[in-house]
Amino acid sequence: MILVVHNQKGGVGKTTTSVNLAVSLAHANMRVLLVDGDLQGNATDELSCPLEPRVARWIRHDIFEPVHARENLDVLSSSPDEEWWDVAVDLVQRRFSAIRSRYDMIVVDTAPSRSPWVTSLLQAADAILVPVDLAYHAVAGVDHLLKIVPTHRLIGFVPIRLDRRTRQSAIMLEALSASTGNLVAPAIRTSIEVDRAAQSGKPLVEYAPHSTASQDYIELAGWVVTRLVAQAG
Ligand SMILES: Nc1ncnc2c1ncn2[C@@H]1O[C@H](COP(=O)(O)OP(=O)(O)OP(=O)(O)O)[C@@H](O)[C@H]1O
Ligand SMILES: [Mg+2]
Repeated sequence: MILVVHNQKGGVGKTTTSVNLAVSLAHANMRVLLVDGDLQGNATDELSCPLEPRVARWIRHDIFEPVHARENLDVLSSSPDEEWWDVAVDLVQRRFSAIRSRYDMIVVDTAPSRSPWVTSLLQAADAILVPVDLAYHAVAGVDHLLKIVPTHRLIGFVPIRLDRRTRQSAIMLEALSASTGNLVAPAIRTSIEVDRAAQSGKPLVEYAPHSTASQDYIELAGWVVTRLVAQAG
């Protein structure tokens, strides 16, 4: 299964979601590959992997050499030094087809852009997950996203930075539910530990496994698996 995490908006929680989902699924004994599809290499960094252009090498030269980052977790890293994104959809699909059977789940982090690379990733996806930051008026962009993403592959919108004490969060959650036809995944609560984890070089679910946001990511991982199994059946 190829799960692409995308929102064209920046800073909404794509990388945090990709990394913590990948690690949670690996903890649950699935064989997972995390593809850092963003040349900024933030996901690579969050797992303390070296910033090397392994995704570029794979797509351009068919050299597939992921880093074995954890038990059950391989990572294809990216590097800001390597600039490339003008790539054909069918090539990307061929590359993914060739390796998909080696993993139970391939999680792909993406950049907040509309490059041919991101478009190809959305086409190659079996499922697309869209993080939406409730703290900002990000819900407004959802209508636009519904137009550009292959909607039959959309499995859910993940509310990020939910704060149940605020009215703002409740209003945004309701708006998200209304504009996506109830395609809302389990929410991730606001947690100070998310930034602390990023600074520590460890994913949140390892750095602070008992934090509220970690619990939410574990729940989200279970939800994703249930959804994808139901979809496949
Ligand atoms: N649940 C949360 N609670 C608190 N802060 C969060 C939470 N989720 C994400 N953040 C913070 O929000 C910021 C953006 O998160 P992240 O890097 O995952 O977004 P992104 O969509 O990948 O950004 P970009 O578009 O630049 O790639 C980070 O500083 C992160 O620590
Ligand atoms: Mg990111």
